[in-house]
Amino acid sequence: MFVGKVYIIVVFYIDLFSCISFYGPIWSYRDESAWPGGFCKKGGKRQSPIDIRTNNVIKDFERQFITNGRLKFIGYENVLSSGINNGHTIQFSTEGDPNMHPTITGGPLKYTYRLEQLHFHWLSEHSINGAKFPMELHFVHVRADLNVSTALSKKDGLAILSVFCNVQPELNEDQLEASEQIMQHIPLLMRTGCRVSGVILNLRKLLSPKINSYFTYLGSLTSPECNEVVVWIIFNNPIYISDAHYHLFGKVGKGRHNFRSQQKINNHQVFQPPDAFITTPKAVIIVTDVFKHVTQFFQNITRQV
Ligand SMILES: *[C@@H]1O[C@H](CO)[C@@H](O)[C@H](O)[C@H]1NC(C)=O
Ligand SMILES: *[C@@H]1O[C@H](CO)[C@@H](O)[C@H](O)[C@H]1NC(C)=O
Ligand SMILES: [Zn+2]
Repeated sequence: MFVGKVYIIVVFYIDLFSCISFYGPIWSYRDESAWPGGFCKKGGKRQSPIDIRTNNVIKDFERQFITNGRLKFIGYENVLSSGINNGHTIQFSTEGDPNMHPTITGGPLKYTYRLEQLHFHWLSEHSINGAKFPMELHFVHVRADLNVSTALSKKDGLAILSVFCNVQPELNEDQLEASEQIMQHIPLLMRTGCRVSGVILNLRKLLSPKINSYFTYLGSLTSPECNEVVVWIIFNNPIYISDAHYHLFGKVGKGRHNFRSQQKINNHQVFQPPDAFITTPKAVIIVTDVFKHVTQFFQNITRQV
């Protein structure tokens, strides 16, 4: 009689840190007119980011756009990822078996979308009634039935969840725990090309506290090549980081800002779930003051370095 042996393969991940030298990013936030990709240059019909005017947002009682009930998040709790400073932002990409990656469906999404990566913009790219937030997190998801290159050519190939981030002097315990899981890695990711792997994140804690209250519209990537393939879901309730954490971000990658300029509204129709109780968030930074503020902020950072 043959008794099969059972091998148990234990894979464990150790935090690994390394830096590679980049050949310098081929585009920069300093000169958007030089971005590669026709959509970026000429602008298309549904470019992002935009300023969301809450008076013009359609409450979707008739299910024109939000046709699939509530948003459903699966597997956001223990996400294996690696963090990198890619010269434009800090990004955490999902690692390991794609079938284990977190997914989202419901709301305006007709398909299931798989999380590829999340990254940070400082200041925010979207604004609400002209008010920007200090940061915006983008959770980038790709349609689970497509590979990335195909998804980049479909009108709904990507779903990006956007979470605004506000800054306050002190955090409560929950907020601190949520932001520390990212912040503890930032000192290792100051330089372009640096990377940490084996990072386990509880992404639920980085989502908006009210996940059924959001704006949604069809837009584009906000970096080259600005493909018009994104279903945007933008939560209006922010999460929080501390002043000290925000300043740490300001020192990343020589402390330049990383948001694209806002795009024409054109035919954008922005929707919200009819049952969402959307309050206009407190104006944080008025767009007209943004450039003054950013310049000053980074001058201050440079002074401290
Ligand atoms: C992606 O999928 C398309 C269509 O199924 C296929 O033709 C293409 O070769 C795939 N590309 C990659 C990089 O796997
Ligand atoms: C920069 O520093 C000055 C002087 O300390 C302060 O008044 C100002 O608010 C700071 N600006 C920002 C954007 O942090
Ligand atoms: Zn982004």
